[in-house]
Amino acid sequence: MPKRVFIKTYGCQMNVYDSARMAELLAPLGYALSERPEGSDLVILNTCHIREKAAEKVFSELGTIRRLQRARERRGERMLIAVGGCVAQAEGEELLRRAPFVDLVFGPQAYHRLPEMIGRALHRGETVRDTSFPPEAKFDYLPDSAGAGAVSAFLTVQEGCDKFCSFCVVPYTRGAEFSRPAAAVLAEAERLVAGGAREITLLGQNVNAYHGTAPDSGEWRLGRLIEALAALPELARIRYMTSHPRDVDETLVAAHRDVPQLMPFLHLPVQSGSDRVLAAMNRRHRADDYRRTVEALRRARPDLALSSDFIVGFPGENDDDFRRTLTLVTEIGYAQAFSFKYSPRPGTPAAAAADQVPEPVKSERLAALQQLLQSQQHTFNRACIGRELPVLFEKPGRDAGQLVGRSPYLQPVHAELPAEQIGKIVAVEIQAALANSLAGAPAGETAAEAAA
Ligand code: 5AD
Ligand code: SF4
Repeated sequence: MPKRVFIKTYGCQMNVYDSARMAELLAPLGYALSERPEGSDLVILNTCHIREKAAEKVFSELGTIRRLQRARERRGERMLIAVGGCVAQAEGEELLRRAPFVDLVFGPQAYHRLPEMIGRALHRGETVRDTSFPPEAKFDYLPDSAGAGAVSAFLTVQEGCDKFCSFCVVPYTRGAEFSRPAAAVLAEAERLVAGGAREITLLGQNVNAYHGTAPDSGEWRLGRLIEALAALPELARIRYMTSHPRDVDETLVAAHRDVPQLMPFLHLPVQSGSDRVLAAMNRRHRADDYRRTVEALRRARPDLALSSDFIVGFPGENDDDFRRTLTLVTEIGYAQAFSFKYSPRPGTPAAAAADQVPEPVKSERLAALQQLLQSQQHTFNRACIGRELPVLFEKPGRDAGQLVGRSPYLQPVHAELPAEQIGKIVAVEIQAALANSLAGAPAGETAAEAAA
């Protein structure tokens, strides 16, 4: 009987990548992936610590999992419970105190030791906690990713962050900035492509800080790495996330100009439009620096669409600061964006600031910002109606006979197409724009139907 593992992933795409690698690591031990926690021999929660809400979700989920663990115990079976990721890293001790039934606690830089940890928990009945750093080790010990399956694949090229924005836990949970050697990245990309990937998204907490050892000598920045990836003939699309405005250098701008496979959509978080707030956030750029960076990127790639993250109600943010954020949003024009109320995170400098913004003010500002961002997103999506967009189809859609894929601008696109078109790029005439997706028909067909 194969053993079953259920992995639940919270938070960012880096966690999605890590969860996939964990599944690959556990397969040789006889663990098959399960869709549900019920009946699993091992449950892994791969957690996120970025905001309080994300961290709290883990504790409520653990309550549910504990009941399943008990039910299994009553039948004389075991269910190992493991908590990985950033909550485990930041709050490992507290976690074991609040949830003593957890068997394994491990940080994002320690999951390559999962097989050994599982052995200790299973055979010696130990509670295992491994929240050690440094990231260099992990990639050396992980088996080569099989890379089978996904049309659109993630590839972690960089981890950690040295920027220390004053609101952010990442430098503490993921550790110091680290780039994988370019040769390792290229080899993994080749495996992904051989396994059917047509699109690769390069991942990193601060991906454009990438400075990996070059295959020959010296270092490659992200732009150079993208150029090298573009030489893989089967790789149709390249993306990267998440970027810091400070690290958009000339090689990256050049890649947007010269590499057609690099998609014209960029997630470039600005957080705030106020220089005062940006300084307090320790972002190390001003609003005008961001405007200039966007201008340079748009000159390089005129059809570039942008996305961003925003924090409202950062300590000390006043009405004027917030208005500057709205002004910046209006000037830039986003295709989509994420916005959050500031959430004080234990151990970060901003959490200790005296001038915290009251909750109702945060709510009001968030609502105003989200209204503006949503109207920009609708405008952007509606402007696609009547256009023909190349869509990379990834999987079956909600309705029978339908597939869903992504436009160059990362919008989900639904169209009626046979399953053989999964993994293909099809020209789609966009006919409708919904709140978060588009719908259309293969371009040739619409023309034929119109003629009939
Ligand atoms: N409070 C609110 N939002 C945060 N983010 C990071 N830390 C916090 C925090 N303490 C947001 C930022 C970041 C995104 C991933 O999450 O906007 O870009
Ligand atoms: Fe956090 Fe700032 Fe680093 Fe992004 S750049 S991970 S927000 S510290």
